[in-house]
Amino acid sequence: MKRAVRANFDASVSAYDAYERRTRRFTALARLLQAEMRQRTDAFDSILDAGAGTGISTRVFADGGARTVALDLSHEMLRQVGESERVQGDFDALPFADRAFDAVAFTASLFLTPEPGAAAREAARVLRPGGVVGAVAPLGWVRADGTDVFADLDRESRSPADVGTVRTALEDTFVVETGVWRFATTAADVRQFHCIPAMAARLYPGLSPDERVEKATDLLAELDGTVEQRWQWVVGVTEA
Ligand SMILES: C[S@@+](CC[C@H](N)C(=O)[O-])C[C@H]1O[C@@H](n2cnc3c(N)ncnc32)[C@H](O)[C@@H]1O
Repeated sequence: MKRAVRANFDASVSAYDAYERRTRRFTALARLLQAEMRQRTDAFDSILDAGAGTGISTRVFADGGARTVALDLSHEMLRQVGESERVQGDFDALPFADRAFDAVAFTASLFLTPEPGAAAREAARVLRPGGVVGAVAPLGWVRADGTDVFADLDRESRSPADVGTVRTALEDTFVVETGVWRFATTAADVRQFHCIPAMAARLYPGLSPDERVEKATDLLAELDGTVEQRWQWVVGVTEA
């Protein structure tokens, strides 16, 4: 599973950046998550960006003034991270000392591991007492009439962990608060999102990156109008 996630993101750099240039969605998610995390801790000087990807979330945290360490499984994604310290690794087994960070953020990454409990426990270990963890996980795409875009569409797979599993993993380890962010978006944006091979893998994991993007584009060809994209956020604190 991890090998597949890594290969999928290694093949996704240019499409990921194209989607971000078009929507700025991951920047928005990192900013919103950072605001929620900051409210719940007295110091936010060092942050582990767990699942940093190409560094979109890393730049948000670094611009906020924190020493930011970008960690990711994917060498190709991580190569795009700019100035910040980079570590290729697995957030289920963090290569850092106990109590090394004020904050750990999983911006659109914790749902990509099949057993998020391990990553939640690792986050707790590397956080100082009173430190804060934050995660954002996708709730999907909803049409104006309230139906899920994918409810009637033929697909072969889902994310490794659903939002409920992510939330429970963090609740088991931290005192958490949660909420939902909603973004009005377009059918064309949904199609562009699924031009990212790692995202199309959610639909057709068995196909090659090109084939799965082509099949996802066909699957979504008829979608039109406005769609709401929903993301669940979860923020937790360790005992001070
Ligand atoms: C959707 S991207 C989000 C990237 C970035 N946080 C952003 O906001 O643009 C998810 C990232 O999580 C990484 N990832 C998934 N599972 C991981 C794991 N077990 N350990 C480290 N990184 C992981 C992927 O390689 C990918 O780069």
